[in-house]
Amino acid sequence: MRLVIKGPNVLRGKVRVSGAKNAVLPILCACLLCDGESVISGVPQLGDVAVMSSVLRHLKVFCRREGEALKVDTNALQLEEIPEELTRRMRASCLVMGPLLARFGRVKIAAPGGCNIGARPIDLHLKGLKAMGAEINERAGFIIAEARRLRGAEIHLDLPSVGATENLMMTAVLAEGTTIIGNAAKEPEIVDLQNFLNRAGARVRGAGTSTIRVEGVKRPLVAPRGHQVIPDRIEAGTHLIAAALTRGEVEVENVIPEHLEPLLAKLREAGVQAEVEEDRIWIRPGDSLRAVDLRTMPYPGFPTDLQAPMCSLLALAEGISVVTENIFENRFRHIPELQRMGADIRIEGRTLIIRGVPQLVGARVEAHDLRAGAALVLAGLAAENTTIVERIGHIDRGYENLEEKYRKLGANIERVG
Ligand code: UD1
Repeated sequence: MRLVIKGPNVLRGKVRVSGAKNAVLPILCACLLCDGESVISGVPQLGDVAVMSSVLRHLKVFCRREGEALKVDTNALQLEEIPEELTRRMRASCLVMGPLLARFGRVKIAAPGGCNIGARPIDLHLKGLKAMGAEINERAGFIIAEARRLRGAEIHLDLPSVGATENLMMTAVLAEGTTIIGNAAKEPEIVDLQNFLNRAGARVRGAGTSTIRVEGVKRPLVAPRGHQVIPDRIEAGTHLIAAALTRGEVEVENVIPEHLEPLLAKLREAGVQAEVEEDRIWIRPGDSLRAVDLRTMPYPGFPTDLQAPMCSLLALAEGISVVTENIFENRFRHIPELQRMGADIRIEGRTLIIRGVPQLVGARVEAHDLRAGAALVLAGLAAENTTIVERIGHIDRGYENLEEKYRKLGANIERVG
């Protein structure tokens, strides 16, 4: 499958943001801590959600979609080892580790894969589990965690890992006593997970700050019926950048504007007009598009997931932008592709030096990971002539109907088999 984009396009109209992928994935894992059928609303149809559903089905959990809702029934939940064919497809599959350990006292999972953005260890997840009393062994590509009793602990993360914070929060919910997670990640998706857990009877406080406190409760939680997932700030950010990059006028609805502050600040600095209301943001072109410097940071800093899309914008901004990627190694795989489209970008270690050019030109390019794929679609919208984006399975992992949404905004974009 590939996307064929004929440009240049100017996006105009209204686009609605789907539920947050990075909130749904941990919440699906949190269902493993619950007895009964959880009902989660606003669940986007994404490749990654399908993979997580396969992981749950493998554990004899019954997942059923009803429109935008996903019903997750754990009545027949059974402990199984998680094979490599599942973990390789998605790193977030390692988030079942904490809940399964908490429920069964044991878990065996193939060491997780990633999404082509560098070495992504899970040492902080494992260190935290050990602190709660788990014994960890690694054998033949599998991680085995065992604990007869999990007890609350004080854990200070070496760095604010999103996944480790979530895994440890979920484990602590059924541990004996209180767990304090210091230097926790503060991403909004962690707050959504806390809300889901508490709705199910857990006692978690502090998500959204750097200290999370979990008081263990003994019984399995009770499946919540009707948790609404927060809107996807990364999808929203992608649309805001797409509007700005095509010099269009777009209303992005179903957003929590505070979650987008780091991006809005940069867009305004670049000369883009952004008007914010309670649950929507309007983007209009300013007089010019100017270069800006940015560095990716844990929330509330500029999100690494928007670094690639932002590069497409800066490739067309007047002047020289300096972009530093602080979160992941090897998250520059969109750069050679953007260069093929005429972008003037130099890579120096973790830094990019982007010299804006007046126009990009369509080319045949490849999406090497999810956000790199989004960046190429955005570049293709703005570029002259035809852009063909290959390997769009990566894009489908994290964006629901991206080309349909952009077609409704007037773009000439088609999916071709
Ligand atoms: C999550 C998001 C992903 C986003 C990332 C950073 C989900 C499903 N995915 O990924 O979209 O790009 O946060 O905002 O929510 N690290 C370690 N040891 C660990 C764990 C992480 O060294 O045990 C390192 C990683 O290699 C990486 C950095 O910490 O360099 C951040 O990783 P982390 O915050 O854990 O990201 P994910 O949870 O994998």
